[in-house]
Amino acid sequence: MTTSSASAPAKIILIGEHAVVYNQPAIAVPVCDLRVKASITAMPADPSGQIRITSKQTDLNVYLSALEENHPFRKLIDTFCDKTGVKQLPAMHISLSSAIPQASGLGSGAAVSVAIIRALSCFLEIEPAPDLISEIAFDVEKIYHGTPSGIDNTVIAFEKAVYYLRNHPIEFLSLRHPLNLIIADTGVAAKTIEMVNQVKQAWLQNPEQLTEIFNTIGHLAAQSKEFLEKGNLDKLGTALTANHTLLQQTGVSTPLLDTLVETAIKAGACGAKLSGGGGGGNMIALAEEKYIESVKEALQNAGAAQVFTTRVLPG
Ligand code: PMV
Repeated sequence: MTTSSASAPAKIILIGEHAVVYNQPAIAVPVCDLRVKASITAMPADPSGQIRITSKQTDLNVYLSALEENHPFRKLIDTFCDKTGVKQLPAMHISLSSAIPQASGLGSGAAVSVAIIRALSCFLEIEPAPDLISEIAFDVEKIYHGTPSGIDNTVIAFEKAVYYLRNHPIEFLSLRHPLNLIIADTGVAAKTIEMVNQVKQAWLQNPEQLTEIFNTIGHLAAQSKEFLEKGNLDKLGTALTANHTLLQQTGVSTPLLDTLVETAIKAGACGAKLSGGGGGGNMIALAEEKYIESVKEALQNAGAAQVFTTRVLPG
């Protein structure tokens, strides 16, 4: 093929971030209406194997060979070739275009990886299974996140709601009802790797207390799986808010995240919490349809930099 393109969604962790790194279950859902697109064009006049990557949003315009060996894009292309058995790539231009805010807990790194893998596969007319796509993206996540749990690459590669427990077979969730989520971005970029390290320091200093918190979060995640399957959105909302309180105790929340959580609940949300690494990034609120607009407006007025709404559909 001379051109091909593919996309990948953002993701939201509904419940269980950070605790999932300590072998507790977590639930994540794809945000299918926020996507990154990768387009590939063959450049037959260029030397074989020469790959140029550009991105409108980040002003990126680089040749892969000029990047350091451990750069996520190099790692991605090398791992892709390694794991799919592709020996030599033709010259190409990969162009990225993303609607996903970066460093905000929406999984933009994993989404970029998955979009490129999908576009490359289409370009080369191969069909790697979603678990191989997820595995390749996981290797790149290690560069972004240090010790990733694997939840981001999994939910994004499969584009399905997942109940995720490290080193266990992936469980896909069948939701009883659609979920209306309002996502508010604080506009404060926070690196997941730094937040994961901060939690690790807290855990090293106070292992008993942090282990107790992680266990409680894991229990909430297990209960939430049932609430989702039975369609009990009120109880799910209460579990989300309880998870936020526990995340506050690990030190990853911020005054703005706390304000947005309180604001969403006052405006009618069933529950709300920070989502992802914390330290900034985004928070989510779960709301019945009739409250979506009031929650959205309240979050905008309370200082959110951007507010999105998404509906996660059963199946
Ligand atoms: O910041 P995000 O959305 O990439 O989420 C990271 C989730 C953590 O549990 C904090 C880390 C991980 O690897 O699971």
